[in-house]
Amino acid sequence: MEGAFIIKGLAGKKKLEGEIPVRGAKNASLKLLAAGLLFEDSLLIHNAPIIEDMERMKELLASLGGDVRSVGVGKIKLDFSHPISPDIPSEISEKFRASIVAAGPLLARLGKVSFSLPGGCHIGKRPIDFFIEGFEEMGARVRVSGEENRVRYLIEAPAGRLKGTEIYLRAPSVTGTETLLMTAILAEGRTIIKNAAMEPEVVSLATFLRQCGARIWGEGTPTLAIEGGTLLRSKGLAYETIPDRIEAGSFIVLAALAGRDVNITHCDPAHLDSLLSLLHHAGVEMKIGKDFVRITDFNKVPRPLKAFSIKTQGYPGFPTDLQALITLFLTQAHGGGSIFETIFESRLAYIDALNLMGAKIKNTGNQAFTEGPTPLSANNLASTDLRAGMAFLLAAIIAKGESRVENIYNIDRGYEKIEDRLSNIGVQIKRILC
Ligand code: EPZ
Repeated sequence: MEGAFIIKGLAGKKKLEGEIPVRGAKNASLKLLAAGLLFEDSLLIHNAPIIEDMERMKELLASLGGDVRSVGVGKIKLDFSHPISPDIPSEISEKFRASIVAAGPLLARLGKVSFSLPGGCHIGKRPIDFFIEGFEEMGARVRVSGEENRVRYLIEAPAGRLKGTEIYLRAPSVTGTETLLMTAILAEGRTIIKNAAMEPEVVSLATFLRQCGARIWGEGTPTLAIEGGTLLRSKGLAYETIPDRIEAGSFIVLAALAGRDVNITHCDPAHLDSLLSLLHHAGVEMKIGKDFVRITDFNKVPRPLKAFSIKTQGYPGFPTDLQALITLFLTQAHGGGSIFETIFESRLAYIDALNLMGAKIKNTGNQAFTEGPTPLSANNLASTDLRAGMAFLLAAIIAKGESRVENIYNIDRGYEKIEDRLSNIGVQIKRILC
């Protein structure tokens, strides 16, 4: 059932206070679920976020024959000791991008896999050529059937096993790196992945898999080496999902715009250097601890926020997933700012809606130029993607009047019980079914 959020805005006042805890990272835990296919014994995942994409990945793995069960709050146990199907159902995979990650471990374990194009946020074309080319370079044969948007890939490893090779990724693709890394774990011989993604989620995946017997070197650098071997064994070691840096960043921007004294807890500030440095130079007063960021006016007269220019980049650059949030921030900062989106070709669609609320943003396609500060007025908003949806929630919170945000499945895909946590720091938000 679709729903909407109704939000009573603060009209620019900084009134939010209290603690808002950050959950486990969606873009880490989704991949650990897929990694369960590489294990001979069961795999335990802790601190997993309770979000729609995780439910879809659990459904996908169960449909393949996996035993997937909840063993406590945020605790999932996976077991693939029963026969496993190589066919990823398109009606599930078309709902989220991360479904493609399961293709690698399936191909590596079974010697074959079939799947359709993955779904996910409409932020660009989001091809899967790096995956297909990587599988081919490891010796797989690729057959394609069907038309335009009903394409089905059937991929097979001759004699059932892939061969290690050297792969150069034309862009440091996050899921491309993760999928080929996992595929290489069961291939024969050594695989080198060049121009690999260095995101904390990639590092966390590689580190855990090595603890379970995978032979991986170089995570967190642009070059990974993997020595292929046999199925992994967790021996009861649970994966502790790292904090969601994008969720933490979203709450930090909210606190900077509307917080009187807000403490963002259970996060890892070390994953947020780019955002924290930007906000510090913009004049946001923060107290940064090992696992928290506290934003308060420290009982001083808050300094006006200063605008800046930023470009999105792969980690450790400024993350594209915080691009919509930082654009919203710039509408409230003094002066002219600019955002250059370099990762996805159409990830600025949300700008029209912000302008209808009173923002002054010029959108040139992959660049946005802001002029601030501009007070915002409430409006009806429909989230186009997960992260723009969060930007709309924040815009509604700082605006004057009552807003309605629709398409909230997009928000529930990545933010666990978001209205409960926002209400706890003073946001007037309620979910309605429509
Ligand atoms: C991951 O998407 C994240 N999703 C995205 O988060 C995130 O925005 C993105 O990485 C960049 O950080 C998950 O981890 C599930 P890419 P991914 O491959 O892996 C091009 C969110 O909101 N490319 O790193 O799909 C691609 O078009 C989501 O949580 C190819 O050309 O992104 C893009 O321009 C949104 N061919 C660039 O690489 C390929 O085969 C980087 O994309 C693959 C990618």
